Amino acid sequence: MRKPFVAGNWKMHGSKASILSLVTGLNAKADQLGDVDVAVCPPAIYIDYTKRALSNDVIALGAQNMAVEPVQGAYTGENSVEMLKDCACDYVILGHSERRAIYGETDAEIAQKVKVALSAKVTPILCVGETLQERESGVMESVIAGQLDAVLDVVGIEAFTDIVIAYEPVWAIGTGVTASPAQAQEVHAFIRGKLAALNSAVADKVIIQYGGSVKPDNAKELFGQADIDGGLIGGASLNADDFIAICKAAG
Ligand code: G3P
Repeated sequence: MRKPFVAGNWKMHGSKASILSLVTGLNAKADQLGDVDVAVCPPAIYIDYTKRALSNDVIALGAQNMAVEPVQGAYTGENSVEMLKDCACDYVILGHSERRAIYGETDAEIAQKVKVALSAKVTPILCVGETLQERESGVMESVIAGQLDAVLDVVGIEAFTDIVIAYEPVWAIGTGVTASPAQAQEVHAFIRGKLAALNSAVADKVIIQYGGSVKPDNAKELFGQADIDGGLIGGASLNADDFIAICKAAG
């Protein structure tokens, strides 16, 4: 049995004041989370502040991105994986569609980042997903397969026991349009099946989160699907009650 994992991607939201209020709300209900792994991923500049505000040891920390360079150096504006570790991050989101679309991150670059994270023992949350146009033109599976192959080529299938995959259909992110549980399950099964063709034991273990307009009222049904092992939550993770309710739906 896979333990569900729910992570909150706060994206570029928050201030010290709003984060303190959010984390205070999470602290108050952390004992209700149940049998689910939970993490929050603040903007990099607030990771340490969030760590200090968290008064429980059940909510872990993740970053939203990291440098591809494995060691520190003259890379203005970047954060290394060692810096993330130093600030208590267990996870790092890599290849989010916003990084791919807005900042031009390529499959190859994302694969290198996954490799760097793994070698530092920080768990990558590798995001994959198709645009609406790709879905409608029938290339959804080949797009997702390509995103996975880029990483498989660099780190190999065995490494996927230490990688979390987040399936985030781009058309469902921040739009209020959620993939139906059946649509999401279909893609999750495709992803797991693709990995299973290479190594079924690894495929059985790998956590595959769903992300895209997950809310307290749709979480239970999504997380109830056979191949959906929790979620990567954007907007709803900025509200403590909503985020806790979503985590409980996974547990
Ligand atoms: O990484 C989480 C994400 O992109 C989904 O965002 O706001 O649709 O839950 P949202």
